[in-house]
Amino acid sequence: MLASSLARRSVAALNKNASRSLSVWSAVPAGPPDPILGVTEAFKADKDPKKINLGVGAYRDGNGKPYILPSVQKAEEIINASKPDKEYLGITGLPEFTQRAARLAYGAESVPLNQGAISTTQSISGTGALRIGGAFLARHYPKSKIIYLPTPTWGNHIPLFQDSGLEVRGYRYFDKSTVGLDFEGLKADLLAAPEGSIVLLHACAHNPTGIDPTQEQWVAVSNIVKEKKLFPFFDMAYQGFASGSTDRDAYAVRLFVKEGHQVAVAQSFAKNMGLYGERVGAFSLTTADPDEKARVDSQLKIIIRPMYSNPPSHGARIANTILGNEVLYTQWTGEVKGMADRIISMREKLYNLLTHDLKTPGEWGHIKSQIGMFSFTGLTAPQTKVLAEKAHVYMTSNGRISMAGLNGSNVEYFAQSVDAAVRGNI
Ligand code: LMR
Repeated sequence: MLASSLARRSVAALNKNASRSLSVWSAVPAGPPDPILGVTEAFKADKDPKKINLGVGAYRDGNGKPYILPSVQKAEEIINASKPDKEYLGITGLPEFTQRAARLAYGAESVPLNQGAISTTQSISGTGALRIGGAFLARHYPKSKIIYLPTPTWGNHIPLFQDSGLEVRGYRYFDKSTVGLDFEGLKADLLAAPEGSIVLLHACAHNPTGIDPTQEQWVAVSNIVKEKKLFPFFDMAYQGFASGSTDRDAYAVRLFVKEGHQVAVAQSFAKNMGLYGERVGAFSLTTADPDEKARVDSQLKIIIRPMYSNPPSHGARIANTILGNEVLYTQWTGEVKGMADRIISMREKLYNLLTHDLKTPGEWGHIKSQIGMFSFTGLTAPQTKVLAEKAHVYMTSNGRISMAGLNGSNVEYFAQSVDAAVRGNI
C-alpha cells in the first residue's frame, strides 16, 4: 500500500520535472526584487506589530495611514456629480489637464506657455513621463544618445533610460564626507561631458539624497548647460514637497526657461496630490513655436499609441478639477504645505532624539538640512539589513528613509533602533 503510493508520488515528481525542462521558460533566471518596491513586499510579509516601512516614498498621515487629500475628495465629489462617461481619452490625454499641468510647472507668466509652444502629454505618472521622454529623445534628439544622471539617483532612472534606448552615464552629486552636494564634482563632470549630451536634473527634493543645489548653484549649472550645449531634462516628481510651495519648487525649471534653454519636464501628481495609484503625470517639451509644437505633438502620439494607446481618465480629471478651480486650488496648496510641514517636524524630532536624547554616535545635522520626502541617513547596507531583520524597520539598502513614514507613535522606536544599529547592539 505504502510502496505503491510512494511510487505514484515519484512518478508525479518525474512528470513535473519533465514538464519543467520542456517549458520554453525553463532557462529564465530569477531576477532580484525591486530595490524600492521589494522593500514594501518584505514589509508586508513581516507580521510584527512594531514594523515600520520607510522604503517607498509615499506620504503617510500622523497616524501612519495613507492620506487622501480633502481637496482630492472634493474634486471626486464634483466629478461624480457630473456623471462622466468612461470613453477613451485622446492619445495625449485630457487637454485641459495637460494645459494646467504645464502652467503649474512653467508658471502662468511663462513665455513659451503663452506663445502656445509647449508640447505636453498626459502620462502614466512620473515614471511614464520619463519613459515617454526617454523614447522621444532617443528617436528625435539629433545631437546625442547619452544621458547623464546624478550619482546617486532614483534607482529606476537607470533601467528606465537604458530601456528607452539611451546610454546612461553618471555625474557626481553626493559628497559622502560632507553629506552634502559635491558641487565641484558636479561642475567638473558636466564640463567634461561630450557637447550636446542630455543631462537629467532633479528639479527639487532630490531622490534619494534630499540635497538640492541652492539658487546660485542652479544659475551656475544653467551656465554650464549653455556652454556645453547640453539638453536639460527635469524630473519634477516632488513639486511642493521640498519647500511646501509649488512655485518655489519650480525655480530651477523656470530659471532654465528664462535663460533661453529648451527643456523637457516630467511631472508627477502621485506625491503632491497623493494620487499614487491613479497614475497621473505629464511630460512636456518647450518648442520654438506652435507649428513646431504641433509636429512634436504628432510624434509623441506615435510613441505613445503602441505603448499603451491612451492614458486613464479618472486621476487626470481629479488633478484637472483641482488645478482649474480657484477655491480647490488654494485648499490644495495648503494641504501640500501641511504635508511638507509634517515631514519637517519629523526631521526635527528625529534629529533631537538621535543627537540630544540618545547621543547616538555620529553627526546627524543632515537629517534636518535635507529636504523633501527623503533623508539619506548614512546608514550602511549591513545596518539596514540588521534593522529589517531584528527591529522590523524597513528602508532601502542605500540608507534612504522616507521621512513621511515616521510619526509621533513610531519615531522614538525608530530612533532607538537606529541608535542600537549604529552601536552594534542590536
Ligand atoms: C520612491 O523613490 O520611493 C518613489 O519614487 C516610488 C517609486 O516608484 O520608486
